[in-house]
Amino acid sequence: MITFKSKMDRGRSVSKGSNSEAADAEGASSSSKGEIIKGLNEDLAREYKAIIQYVVFSSTLKGAEYGDIAEQLKQHASQELEHALEVARQIDYLGGDPTVKGKEAEYSDDSRRMLEIDLRAEQETIKSYRERIRQAERAGEFALSEALRDIIAQEQDHEIDLRDALGIR
Ligand SMILES: [Fe+2]
Ligand SMILES: [Fe+2]
Repeated sequence: MITFKSKMDRGRSVSKGSNSEAADAEGASSSSKGEIIKGLNEDLAREYKAIIQYVVFSSTLKGAEYGDIAEQLKQHASQELEHALEVARQIDYLGGDPTVKGKEAEYSDDSRRMLEIDLRAEQETIKSYRERIRQAERAGEFALSEALRDIIAQEQDHEIDLRDALGIR
């Protein structure tokens, strides 16, 4: 389990090593902060959806061949909750309002299809967090990008778990 830095630990990096970095910092206007908040709320809505899917899928997955992955999905559910809590905290820290709406959860009666749904969701999530890390770094929000890197590492583990279960390499 990863631990996230508390709000008090976060240092705002204002010292800049070069002129171009200083220009980047000036470019980090309130509009880019607004864009980051908007993006983080999309990420939060995606985390809510992931929690729902992993709670349901881990308890309804059928078949002896899926015994291990069902246990892993339970762990994913807990980790997605940690991600949601961290992303909401980051949104609040930036002065935004964390969304109360999740993206619509998907469902299938077919076990393999469930895992495929989860895999696609993880891939979309990883892509979005990569973009958010780039945005955060452009805006000089380095503590945020660090927190997102911790999250993305776990999303990549989730993707590997799902690929292994589906036999996709
Ligand atoms: Fe997550
Ligand atoms: Fe995940």
